[in-house]
Amino acid sequence: MAHRDVVLLLGAPGAGKGTQARFLAGVLGVPHVASGDLLREHRRSGTYLGQAAQAYMDRGDLVPDALVIDMIIERLDHPDADRGVLLDGFPRTRAQAEALDERLLSLGTRVRSALYLEVPQPILVDRLADRWMCPGCQATYHVRFARPDVEGKCDVCGETLFQRADDRREVVDNRVAVYLRDTLPVIEYYTRSTTLQRVDGDQEIYAVRAELCIGLGGVVTGRRRARWHVFIAHTATAPGGATGRTLCGKLVHTNSNRQFGTLSAFAETPCRACRHKLHPHRKPPVDTTIA
Ligand code: AP5
Ligand code: MG
Ligand code: ZN
Repeated sequence: MAHRDVVLLLGAPGAGKGTQARFLAGVLGVPHVASGDLLREHRRSGTYLGQAAQAYMDRGDLVPDALVIDMIIERLDHPDADRGVLLDGFPRTRAQAEALDERLLSLGTRVRSALYLEVPQPILVDRLADRWMCPGCQATYHVRFARPDVEGKCDVCGETLFQRADDRREVVDNRVAVYLRDTLPVIEYYTRSTTLQRVDGDQEIYAVRAELCIGLGGVVTGRRRARWHVFIAHTATAPGGATGRTLCGKLVHTNSNRQFGTLSAFAETPCRACRHKLHPHRKPPVDTTIA
C-alpha cells in the first residue's frame, strides 16, 4: 500500500484547520482525517477510547500519545486511505510525528507537505468563542466570519448546529497553552525536514484557501495564455516540473510549455471557474463594457 499524498494541516486551536481541510481533502481526492473529530465520534459512541479521552478533552489537555497514535495508524490502514490522507490535528507532539514518519517509512512513503496555518493568539480566542459546529458532517461556522445560510442549521446536511464544550474561554486558554508547549516543537520538527510551508491564516477564509492550494501546486497559464489557473500537483514536485490538475479540471503536464506564475498573477487575470471553486459565494464580476 502506498500513501502518496499524506498532507498535514497544522496550527493552533482555532487556526482554521477544519475550515480548510474539507476543501483541500476534496481537491486532493483523499479522506479528511481529523483526530479531534475521530475522538469526538468515539465519545458519542461510548467506546473505551472515547471514555478514556473524555477527561483530557474536557480540560483541553492532549489525549495520551499511545491512544491517539494507535487510532490514527489504524485509520491509515482503511482502504480509502490508499491514495493518502489529509491529517488535521495530528501529529500534535514530537512522539506522534515520529510515530507517523516511522509508519509511513514502513509503507515506502513520507509526508508530502506540512501546511502550517499561522494565526496570532488573540484572534484564536475570538474565533473559538463564536464557532458553531455541525454534529453530522463536522462543518464549522462562525457568527461573523462564516455564517450558515439558515441560522442554526448546517448548509451541507441541515443538522442543528452546536457549540463545542471545550470552546469555553478557560478551556481555550489551556488548549492554546498546551499547543505552545507540546505542538510548537512539531512545527520545528517539520521545518527541519523541509516539508513545512507557512501560510498566513489571518486572512479571509478564501484567501487562506488560495494560498494553501498554491502551496500544493501553483499557478499556470491556460493553453492560450489568456488567464491564470490554480493547480494542485499530483506529487510533491516543484512548480516548473509538475503534473497536476487545475481547480477547473484541466490536466497540467510538465512538458506542456506552460508558464508558471504567482498568486497575484492569478488575482489579476483569473480563470473564472478556478476562482469560483476557491470562492463559490463570490458573485461573478459584472461586465460593464459596452459592446
Ligand atoms: P481538535 O478538534 O483538533 O481541536 P483544535 O486543534 O483545538 O482545533 P479546532 O478544531 O478548535 O480549530 P480548527 O483549527 O479546526 O479551527 P476551525 O476551522 O474550526 O482537538 C480537540 C481535542 O481533542 C484536543 O484538545 C485534545 O484533547 C484532543 N486531541 C485531538 N487531536 C489530538 C492529538 N493528535 N493528540 C492528543 N490529543 C488530541 O475554525 C475556528 C473558527 O474560526 C470557526 O468558527 C471558523 O468558521 C472560523 N474561521 C476559520 N478560518 C477563518 C478565517 N480565515 N477568518 C475568520 N474566521 C475563520
Ligand atoms: Mg478542527
Ligand atoms: Zn453538516
